[in-house]
Amino acid sequence: MSKEFLDAVKKRRSIYAISKESVLSDEQLERLIGEAVLHTPSSFNSQSARVVVLLNEQHNKLWDLTTETLRQVVPAENFGPTQDKMTAFRNGYGTVLFFEDQAVIQGLQEKFALYKDNFPVWSEQSSGMLQFVVWTALEAEGYGATLQHYNPLINDAVSKEWNIPDTWKLIAQMPFGKPTAAPGEKEFAPLEDRLKVFK
Ligand SMILES: Cc1cc2nc3c(=O)[nH]c(=O)nc-3n(C[C@H](O)[C@H](O)[C@H](O)COP(=O)(O)O)c2cc1C
Repeated sequence: MSKEFLDAVKKRRSIYAISKESVLSDEQLERLIGEAVLHTPSSFNSQSARVVVLLNEQHNKLWDLTTETLRQVVPAENFGPTQDKMTAFRNGYGTVLFFEDQAVIQGLQEKFALYKDNFPVWSEQSSGMLQFVVWTALEAEGYGATLQHYNPLINDAVSKEWNIPDTWKLIAQMPFGKPTAAPGEKEFAPLEDRLKVFK
């Protein structure tokens, strides 16, 4: 019964070469990501995840804005590889922005003081789960995606452009599109060093 699920898990890779060619309709994409947001678990069922999906021109705007932000901090003579990466992400169809609502986390910290230090950690873990669900679901539908972290550099520009509430903390960006090249070989560390079973 788990075969289909594990096949999807194995198939997920970091795909950097992506295009704007259509795979799903925008409505289907919204439904897919909505299912992931609804059904990914969170500590105390806090549901602190917030997601913004940028498509078409909005997606282009994100990578233009990220390029300009990076231009302020990367020396001009080294900007070539950065520009290439920005162009590759912009070549995709959309980007999923993952946030965590700090107001929810603070509320939990006040309500359950015993776990105060754990809530921010659990929030990041839960966001990681959601990122993985979205990543795997996108790839199962025929997209290629990667996980990027231009936060906190781009936080202010993103908040301003899309009017993001102050309490939403940007955790990750996931550009996606139709793959134009297969990923390279992946190396695996020996499983016996990483998994122990006692029986
Ligand atoms: C928590 C986490 C953070 C990551 N951050 C980045 C990142 O900032 N930029 C990037 O290009 N890839 C990032 N990756 C992708 C990993 O480098 C990649 O998943 C890993 O090398 C395995 O390759 P695969 O995704 O093709 O299986 C991240 C992955 C994880 C799980």
